[in-house]
Order: sequence, then structure tokens, then C-alpha cells
Amino acid sequence: MEILNTAAALQARTETWRREGKRIGLVPTMGALHEGHLQLVRAAAQECEVVVVSIFVNPTQFNNPDDFRLYPRLPEADAALLDPAGCTALFLPSVEEMYPQPTVLRFDFGPLERVMEGEHRPGHFNGVATVVSKLFHLSRPHRAYFGQKDFQQVAVVRQLVQDLSFDLDLVAYPTIREADGLAMSSRNRRLDAPARAMAPRLYQALQLAETLVCEKAVSPAEVKAAAAGFLAEEPAIALEYLAVVDAQTLQPLTEWQPGHPVALCLAAHLGGVRLIDNIVVN
Ligand code: PAJ
Repeated sequence: MEILNTAAALQARTETWRREGKRIGLVPTMGALHEGHLQLVRAAAQECEVVVVSIFVNPTQFNNPDDFRLYPRLPEADAALLDPAGCTALFLPSVEEMYPQPTVLRFDFGPLERVMEGEHRPGHFNGVATVVSKLFHLSRPHRAYFGQKDFQQVAVVRQLVQDLSFDLDLVAYPTIREADGLAMSSRNRRLDAPARAMAPRLYQALQLAETLVCEKAVSPAEVKAAAAGFLAEEPAIALEYLAVVDAQTLQPLTEWQPGHPVALCLAAHLGGVRLIDNIVVN
């Protein structure tokens, strides 16, 4: 596995691979890698001759300075995991390399980002779209791999690819969970023992909501209230939002739309850490 630190090196290497007719798979990450990331790398290795993984804790997508400062950074341990997973090249740029000067361009995804993460983390998707666009331009992948764990991010990046005519296939893989149901996340490393013990409750709330959605006997508002009530039984969990939305448009549902998949999404704080999770009900 090669390690590339500059945008120019990434551009030159991927251009050569493209000319050689190799299919390039890109897996953008912020590191502190876990099985959720590694499944994307392994899938890319199955489908592409070359796998580029980027690790970059992207400052422009953090609206909370403490979250950025405390985000786990483990480049050596990450590199050791990536090689056996089938990564060809690890792109590990500095902030100065990615942002030689502050960006001026701003993205607006309309209704897609007026809800959930977009609503609660102002500027977040602008930062995601900026860095993902840069990575797409620098590496020109044939396929780009994302996780459903960040459900709204997939929708936003899909819109980005469509609106800016990026010539690539966007692939999304399911959420990988710990044995107790907690969605894997780099931020889980920051949970202390009591918060970690409480954290599976987030997924349990979504499962409860899923059961109610499947029964269709109650309204979206009642589903939301039931799941939020379940979380409220635990004072250590501070729910930021719990949304029952159309899985395609991401807009909140006031009534069930037959034939439309429903996404149940939440964000909550526990032990000073912000976690998100979701379930899609078909
Ligand atoms: P990061 O949180 O490191 O996630 C990198 C990729 O791994 C994302 O596509 C994310 O959805 C996926 N992922 C994370 N946890 C997962 C899990 N438990 N199961 C399945 N997939 C999972 O998302 C980002 O970084 C950044 O926003 C990025 C796209 C790299 C732009 O900076």
C-alpha cells in the first residue's frame, strides 16, 4: 500500500491508473477506522483493480470546534488495517494541502439539507460536499463507496454527483453494528463506560419505531412520540432529533405514503458525544 500526502501525488497516481485501464474505487473517510469503513474497502477491492482510501478529518464539515478537536486521529493503526483489507493507496493530506486557502464556493442542497443533520449542524453538508468534490476531482474514481450509517450524507452526495455530472457510480453499503446493536462509529471511542452501556438504547428506540411503522396502526407523529418516550426514560440520553421521513426525499411524514420506504433517523448526545443512527423500513 502506498501512502500519498499531496493532492498532486494523488492526481498523478490515479491518472496513471486510469490510463492503464484500471478501475478506481474511492472510499472517503475521516479515519479511526472500524468494520463499517473496512467493509467499504473490501467491497471496493472486490469490484475495482485500484482502491484509494482517504483519511482526512475535514474541518469544514464540523460546526462544533470541540468535536473537531476531540475527533480520534489514529493514522498508524488505520494504515495497518487498510493494507490487509485491499487498499492500494492511502491518501493522507494535511489541512493546508486540502485547503491552501479558504473556499468561497457554497453548496445549497435545498430541502434535502433543511432537515435532520443539515438543520442541526449548519454548514455541515457544505463542508462534506466541498471535500467530497475535491476528492472526486483529484482521484476521478469509477466507483465511490459510502455507508448508510450516514443516511442523509448519501442522499446529499447522490445529488452532488447528479448536479455536477461526476462520472462515477455511487455505492452505498448497510450500517455495521456492534453485537449489542450500537452502530459502529469513530466517535464511539469517546464514550465512557456508562455512556457505552447506554448507547444501544438508540438502536432499540429505532427498532421500536420500526415495529410500529410496520404495524401501520399509528401515525408518524405517534411513532416519533413512542420512540422519543422510550429514550426519555433514560435521563443520560439527550435526544437532538428523531425524524420519521420519506426515505427518498428525506421530508418528514405526516401520514404514511403507501409504497414509499420510510427512514427513521435520530441524533442524540450521551456522555458528551453526539451519535446518529437510522433504520430504513421498506
Ligand atoms: P466517516 O465518518 O469516517 O465515514 C466514512 C464512511 O464510512 C462514510 O461513508 C460512512 O457512512 C461510512 N460508515 C461509518 N460508519 C459506518 C457503519 N457503522 N456502517 C457502515 N458504514 C459506515 O462520513 C465521513 O467520514 C465524512 O463525512 C466523509 C464522507 C469522509 C467526508 O469528510
